Amino acid sequence: MNPAPALSLPGRDLIGIQGLSAPEITGLLDLAEEFIELNRQIEKKRTTLRGRTQINLFFEASTRTQSSFEIAGKRLGADVMNMSVGSSSVKKGETLIDTAITLNAMHPDILVVRHHASGAVELLARKVDCCVVNAGDGAHEHPTQALLDALTIRRNKGRIGGLVVAICGDVAHSRVARSNIILLQALGAQVRVVAPSTLLPTGIENFGVEVHRTMEDGIASADIVMMLRLQRERMAGAYIPSVREYFHYFGLDEAKLRYAKPDALVMHPGPMNRGVEIDSSVADGPQSLIREQVEMGVAVRMAVLDTLARKLPNA
Ligand code: NCD
Repeated sequence: MNPAPALSLPGRDLIGIQGLSAPEITGLLDLAEEFIELNRQIEKKRTTLRGRTQINLFFEASTRTQSSFEIAGKRLGADVMNMSVGSSSVKKGETLIDTAITLNAMHPDILVVRHHASGAVELLARKVDCCVVNAGDGAHEHPTQALLDALTIRRNKGRIGGLVVAICGDVAHSRVARSNIILLQALGAQVRVVAPSTLLPTGIENFGVEVHRTMEDGIASADIVMMLRLQRERMAGAYIPSVREYFHYFGLDEAKLRYAKPDALVMHPGPMNRGVEIDSSVADGPQSLIREQVEMGVAVRMAVLDTLARKLPNA
């Protein structure tokens, strides 16, 4: 593996894709490519984070993102500790800021944080001395998900600029959609969102995306069809008449996929609700990139941790 290119990120933390330039995004993707190779070898260890402490602080349940950050940190040589709310004093009423100050006193070098409230990760980042990576905050941003999606697209299509990407489903509650819209547009893709009106955030047009309310229109001639999970835990009222009706109109099955380009590829950040937003025949079919997205996730998180680690004091 070649030495990592001299990469830059605008600050000490990675809170969102917003604020990153196209060269910064591309630089992270290029570095991640090197880690894909490393991860496929028997010996997967690097020493960039040797002696460093990484705490994964998850206020919201997560399987793939948390394990992906854990593996990424360990492969770079960090000591990784996982903390989930279920087992912490947050359950006993401690505030977010108190938790941050407590952890900060233990001198971690990197905090990877997921929280159910938009803006919580940025607030926490202001209270600690280490670098902070946003692993998803409310409906705001999920930057490493957008980076891994971009890496997956680039490897399969050879580029991102000029592609038509349709992001379909529960856009209103989705930090994945938000981060992806910002990133894909920064790299020159044409982004569409496809959803019933109740699942579109107000002012979505201001993001510069094309808005469609039927799958037939929305995925017509698309290169990439990106499905989103119906985030029922974030829904306070009735956003859809029924799950069956939702699947009928907005669930991706083989018949609807035929509206897209013949070589269109299908993505989903997981966890999937099979039979709700996506049919199993598509999720497990030849056009699906869903498993590859998980592999790319580890490489992208290694690239992010590696880049931020170079900015730590005494690095
Ligand atoms: C996403 C998340 O948590 O934002 N999942 C993930 O990170 N793999 C999407 C979702 O929960 O639907």
